Amino acid sequence: SKKITKICCIGAGYVGGPTMAVIAQKCPDVKVTVVDINEKRIAAWNDEDLGKLPVYEPGLDKVVEEARGRNLFFSTEVDKAIDEAEMIFISVNTPTKTYGKGKGMAADLKFIELCARQIARVAKDDKIVVEKSTLPVRTAQALKSILHNTGSSPAGKEGGVQFDILSNPEFLAEGTAVEDLHAPDRVLIGGDNPEAIQALVDVYAHWVPAANILTTNVWSSELSKLTANAFLAQRVSSINALSELCEKTGADVNEVARAIGTDSRIGPKFLKASVGFGGSCFQKDILNLVYIAKSYGLHEVADYWEQVILMNDHQKRRFADNIVTTLYNTVSGKKIAFLGWAFKKDTNDTRESAAIHVADYLLNEQAEIVVYDPKVTEEQIYADLDYLNTRDEKENRKLVTVVNDPYKATDEAHAIAVLTEWDEFRAYDWQRIYDLMLKPSFVFDGRAVLDREKLKNFGFEIYIIGVGSCG
Ligand code: NAD
Ligand code: UDX
Repeated sequence: SKKITKICCIGAGYVGGPTMAVIAQKCPDVKVTVVDINEKRIAAWNDEDLGKLPVYEPGLDKVVEEARGRNLFFSTEVDKAIDEAEMIFISVNTPTKTYGKGKGMAADLKFIELCARQIARVAKDDKIVVEKSTLPVRTAQALKSILHNTGSSPAGKEGGVQFDILSNPEFLAEGTAVEDLHAPDRVLIGGDNPEAIQALVDVYAHWVPAANILTTNVWSSELSKLTANAFLAQRVSSINALSELCEKTGADVNEVARAIGTDSRIGPKFLKASVGFGGSCFQKDILNLVYIAKSYGLHEVADYWEQVILMNDHQKRRFADNIVTTLYNTVSGKKIAFLGWAFKKDTNDTRESAAIHVADYLLNEQAEIVVYDPKVTEEQIYADLDYLNTRDEKENRKLVTVVNDPYKATDEAHAIAVLTEWDEFRAYDWQRIYDLMLKPSFVFDGRAVLDREKLKNFGFEIYIIGVGSCG
């Protein structure tokens, strides 16, 4: 098969950036160029100061430091990178549609189509086009049609360009992206041309054992990505559904999770009850799966998966609602300290974070919220709230304050809500926090991370998700 020497990746986001950085690190013989239309993002990827990379991931700075300028490049010159490359990854965003047909459900593929048209227009020689973005099953067919029927030298014509399309979904989780990329459980490659498949297998074979590289047909590969995310999210909604029952019955969801997780058929991972899953993928991909099932008339299939989302919405709402009920049915004018805003620890990503929805609920109850998150910027927190369009920007800035010190956040607070499982929260001086707060001092631990016995002894009134009020 063809030896790949130049790769281009369109989209320098949470997936394109880290994925290409690791490919470049592990394949010093391949030139990898990551392009994006967002100039600010590319400038940040090129920043001398590795603390300023646009994506925070443990270990990513080291990988970028090793490869950048050697065989890893970040650029806004999309056409040039496409022209040079033998293999082009498409890693642009595929958000839920906010308009028209499939609004609120289907994946918006306009960015994907723009990429395909651009590749078709620019390509002068054969290209392998790799779907890295998460896409609805059968998107490769649309890509093929665009690539082969637009552009200056359509395939099939004299001197026409040949495009091979592969599906290579990404399974990394944020917060552990570098680890996941270095040692993936599996790499999945779907395609119909064995030579093109082999060319991509050879790239990954630089560091991934052959047994961990799976090849399938294109449709299986596309659908496996949506399926994996649906199964993972379903586990979280399942344990969260039980967390509510635990709170009513005196069972402890963490003990239940341990008890069932030791069954090797169930397994211990992804059984942590929480204030609700967030992130840019789970909700978007399940909604997309539901939409696809509906479009084939499979209504029972659609309803089954939709319940995972409904349960998650319920979990966020009931956490917020419980704060109001516990604080004597009113939080109006009360200061609530938020510990954490990111959708999980070790990332600066806030997309679909449960914190946003809990905050929105409490702001509707006229609470005053002070947020501390070790990695999320003030600008991002306001942007997340403004995006909801529940109240105007001025109001959001009046009711919400962002601080860079947890003790400042909790000073004179009526209650603390833990929204993200950052490790540092456990290590705080909780006696000092207790002394700073108003009494009674309430803690609502939406991640079950704090030491309940220790906190109880300091005098806190503590509620833990899946356990209930226990102090
Ligand atoms: P992102 O929004 O962080 O990055 C996408 C980038 O693509 C943006 O910087 C945007 O400017 C750029 N872009 C859009 N259109 C472009 C164009 N025509 N030309 C050049 N650049 C363009 O998104 P992400 O989180 O990296 O996700 C990308 C894809 O990967 C999505 O399909 C997502 O579902 C999938 N995915 C994400 C994760 C994750 O953990 N975030 C994991 C697996 C898969
Ligand atoms: C997910 C998939 O794990 C990954 O394979 C895919 O490529 C992208 O989507 P990500 O969203 O980055 O990754 O993080 P993940 O670790 O899956 O967590 C998603 C959400 O579920 C987070 O809000 C997390 O806090 C929550 N979660 C996860 C729980 O509440 N309990 C758990 O047991 C696990």
